[in-house]
Amino acid sequence: MTPILEFHDISKVFFKGSQQIHALSQVTAEVGDGELLAIVGPSGCGKSTLLNLAAGLMKPGTGRLLYRGHPLTGVNTEVAYITQKDNLLPWRTVEDNIALPLGLGGRARLGKHERRERLARQIELVGLSGFEKHYPSELSGGMRKRAQLARSLVYEPDVLLMDEPFGALDAQLKLVLQAELLRTWEGTGKTLVFVTHDLTEAISLADRVIVMSSRPGRIKAVERIELPRPRDPFTIRFEPGFGEYFDRLWSALREDIHQGSEA
Ligand SMILES: Nc1ncnc2c1ncn2[C@@H]1O[C@H](COP(=O)(O)OP(=O)(O)OP(=O)(O)O)[C@@H](O)[C@H]1O
Ligand SMILES: [Mg+2]
Repeated sequence: MTPILEFHDISKVFFKGSQQIHALSQVTAEVGDGELLAIVGPSGCGKSTLLNLAAGLMKPGTGRLLYRGHPLTGVNTEVAYITQKDNLLPWRTVEDNIALPLGLGGRARLGKHERRERLARQIELVGLSGFEKHYPSELSGGMRKRAQLARSLVYEPDVLLMDEPFGALDAQLKLVLQAELLRTWEGTGKTLVFVTHDLTEAISLADRVIVMSSRPGRIKAVERIELPRPRDPFTIRFEPGFGEYFDRLWSALREDIHQGSEA
């Protein structure tokens, strides 16, 4: 596995007045090129902080963070980031929100025709055809998530970081979107880092699952998920082996959950 992202012995402390919050402690982990990596861990253990570091939105306190073998200095323009908070622009339509990265230049500088084509393809892929002219306030929660997904995929990033993208959705819709995500990811060779609280979701999607401890977040366990692909999130929990993965990951997570819930 060639690593695309490498976290070497990373610690991060936040300062709030006189208070110090130790968010991450000596985190060493790799994300393989083309891998789908899921990160689970109790609330407040530093999962979003890890993604913020990978996106270059903040710097590690100590330790080294490499992207394709080079230290990351500044914003990482190779990644798309679906943050935990929905950040669609309310004054732009679905179509204009999704097209946003295409107007930002860099590698996304495309001809008008190609832009239009890519945009239409992405909108169709996430099932938002017919809603191009709607504003975010006119969409359901799931549709907003789809719009965010389309916006992240439209400039074909090498790495997609997703922070609990389906967290607030009902169980049924979550499965539909997981299936859509797998369908769009499988075979692309793109790297996906997916933060979730849901172990079943992590096992259904991922090549590997990392379990983090409660704050300060450390890597507590790593599990390689050998379930065959293509996977079907609707039925995968009944596959042989799924239960064992779940038990092992749950026992790693369980001890930290109570502590973490007070974070
Ligand atoms: N910009 C910041 N300034 C100060 N403290 C911060 C900042 N960002 C995160 N923290 C603190 O660092 C810790 C880790 O936060 P983080 O958002 O990474 O947790 P998380 O694992 O994503 O939690 P959740 O599952 O609830 O989203 C928390 O205690 C949080 O309060
Ligand atoms: Mg978070």
